[in-house]
Amino acid sequence: MLSIVLVLFVSLWYSVAQTSVDSYVATEGPIAKTNLLANIGPDGSKSQGAKAGIVIASPSNSDPNYLFTWTRDSSLVFKALIDQYTFGQDTSLRTLIDEFVTAQSIIQQVTNPSGTVSTGGLGEPKFNIDMTAFTDAWGRPQRDGPALRATAIINYANYLLTNDNSTHVTNTLWPVLKLDLDYVAQNWNQTTHVSCLNRRTLTDIHHRFDLWEEVSSSSFFTAAVQHRSLREGAALAMQIGQTSVVDGYTTQAANVLCFMQSFWNSGGSYMTANTGGGRSGKDANTVLASIHTFDANASCDSATFQPCSDRALENLKVYVDAFRSVYSINSGIASTNAVATGRYPEDSYFNGNPWYLTTLAVAEQLYDAITVWNAQGSLNVTSVSQLFFSTFQSGVAVGTYPSSSSTFTSLISSIKSFADGFVSVVAQYTPSNGSLAEQYSKTDGTPTSAVDLTWSYAAALTAFAARDGFVPASWGAAGLTVPSTCSTGGSGSGGSVPVTFNVQATTVFGENIYITGSVDALQNWSPDNAIILNADNYPTWSVTINLPASTTIQYKYIRKFNGAVTWESDPNRQITTPSSGSFIQNDVWR
Ligand SMILES: *[C@@H]1O[C@H](CO)[C@@H](O)[C@H](O)[C@H]1NC(C)=O
Ligand SMILES: *[C@@H]1O[C@H](CO)[C@@H](O)[C@H](O)[C@H]1NC(C)=O
Ligand SMILES: *[C@@H]1O[C@H](CO)[C@@H](O)[C@H](O)[C@H]1NC(C)=O
Ligand SMILES: *[C@@H]1O[C@H](CO)[C@@H](O)[C@H](O)[C@H]1NC(C)=O
Ligand SMILES: *[C@@H]1O[C@H](CO)[C@@H](O)[C@H](O)[C@H]1NC(C)=O
Repeated sequence: MLSIVLVLFVSLWYSVAQTSVDSYVATEGPIAKTNLLANIGPDGSKSQGAKAGIVIASPSNSDPNYLFTWTRDSSLVFKALIDQYTFGQDTSLRTLIDEFVTAQSIIQQVTNPSGTVSTGGLGEPKFNIDMTAFTDAWGRPQRDGPALRATAIINYANYLLTNDNSTHVTNTLWPVLKLDLDYVAQNWNQTTHVSCLNRRTLTDIHHRFDLWEEVSSSSFFTAAVQHRSLREGAALAMQIGQTSVVDGYTTQAANVLCFMQSFWNSGGSYMTANTGGGRSGKDANTVLASIHTFDANASCDSATFQPCSDRALENLKVYVDAFRSVYSINSGIASTNAVATGRYPEDSYFNGNPWYLTTLAVAEQLYDAITVWNAQGSLNVTSVSQLFFSTFQSGVAVGTYPSSSSTFTSLISSIKSFADGFVSVVAQYTPSNGSLAEQYSKTDGTPTSAVDLTWSYAAALTAFAARDGFVPASWGAAGLTVPSTCSTGGSGSGGSVPVTFNVQATTVFGENIYITGSVDALQNWSPDNAIILNADNYPTWSVTINLPASTTIQYKYIRKFNGAVTWESDPNRQITTPSSGSFIQNDVWR
């Protein structure tokens, strides 16, 4: 009796929760669309002064001043609009899309502090809204922008090709695309810069810039969107007869795909979004990478980090859990329920709050996953994703669950509720007029930082579309193989360089220090085959190993004592080897 009452209560509660999410989506969707369009020039009501096709990041012009146009934000916003247009959901967007392409073709040619169009200027992260260069100090270049812009425009190009307008693709879109794709193919492997999502205030940037430059950091998001753009760029080039670039883009795409695998932290089961700087690397960067490279044709492929892949699911759990204790609005929420999430748990910008777009991204990844499982008629629990799934069904075993099984039905239903929970969190902290700022306060959920962030609205639109089962166009993620050894694509690749690792570590008698890492020469993360260091200069332990040149390599030290293995704390350590000569790396046990 009690259990029947409980079941009734629980299902009633779920249906109430579901109804409230349905009604939020129904009211907020149109508001998000209207407010997004208000931020695009020349006619947007909040974007006066912006040229045609220019997206302002936010109308906020002080504390913080976001009245600029970022290539990343604009491209993500227009990708969402181009999907609506090409899928016939809003045929009125054609003029705006053409204006966006024209504006970008002009901005590409604007000489700026990152360079000219041919010397690196395409990596400039932001411009004034009249399309002139922004010349103050900033974290530049940021190499995700050209890739995201290419992806948006390629989706439009593919639509035009199937609608008898290849002339416009070849004559107008391709010249813009080729600049961006060439830039990505030539520069993706230049890692000595900040290339992430952080750029909001100058102090913030300087802080981060210093931190990251020290460790020559790369960003998983940047690599993932670069990979995507090169794949779909090569396919488009092939289709319109621009065959001379196809091999180059494809080769570099394979190199980037290989590089992407190096971000996986097998010890902690998450993508280390940004390396170094004392950060955990748990970051919305990775969830955004998954949703913005979603390709339903690739099923649950983990190499491309598809939303339903075991790695992306486990990563999602680790990322979400990282925020349970850092925001007080999350306190008291059960560990199996949705919470507010932000960029990364160590964030201190505006005191470090949850963001609307990051919380929505979690929901979107889960909706995408559900769409693929339903289409495929099965779901896999692997040893990598078992912890994620056991949140919803404790003790769930590794295996394949067909849609006819009760496990499948109950997991899908719980995961749908979990996903809806993130939308509910956003709904709870959306002001009554439906406006979405950049952040909401970690202590009371009130909107904070920039008002009407265009990207927040785009994130709402894409999350809501995913909830409806919308599947964006495939970009060729299916059937790719990861090269067995990674190359940075440069002339130094292929050779090897001697690398000396020194680590200061105090040990007890009989205890030894070993190293293992992400490449064959470091025994591919095998604690059993890890390489022992010598203690000739105790407490400094040393070893010299030949490693592939011009390659980004992750590693950790481990201790072995009486058969017990102890790993260093996360995140993984990372170096990029030089193209020639030798390299010495000095570390302290962590
Ligand atoms: C092709 O698309 C462009 C951009 O929208 C448009 O100006 C042109 O009229 C179109 N051409 C044809 C033949 O449809
Ligand atoms: C589940 O795993 C099998 C075997 O590895 C694979 O063929 C299948 O595509 C996977 N299905 C999903 C939905 O991941
Ligand atoms: C909507 O509400 C928010 C928060 O109360 C406020 O900051 C914003 O100015 C409002 N927007 C409009 C258009 O009234
Ligand atoms: C996606 O897969 C479907 C079915 O396998 C296929 O018909 C379609 O061509 C694929 N799309 C792309 C863009 O590869
Ligand atoms: C990066 O790739 C480009 C294009 O293949 C190549 O010219 C350059 O040397 C590479 N840089 C490094 C550091 O490997």
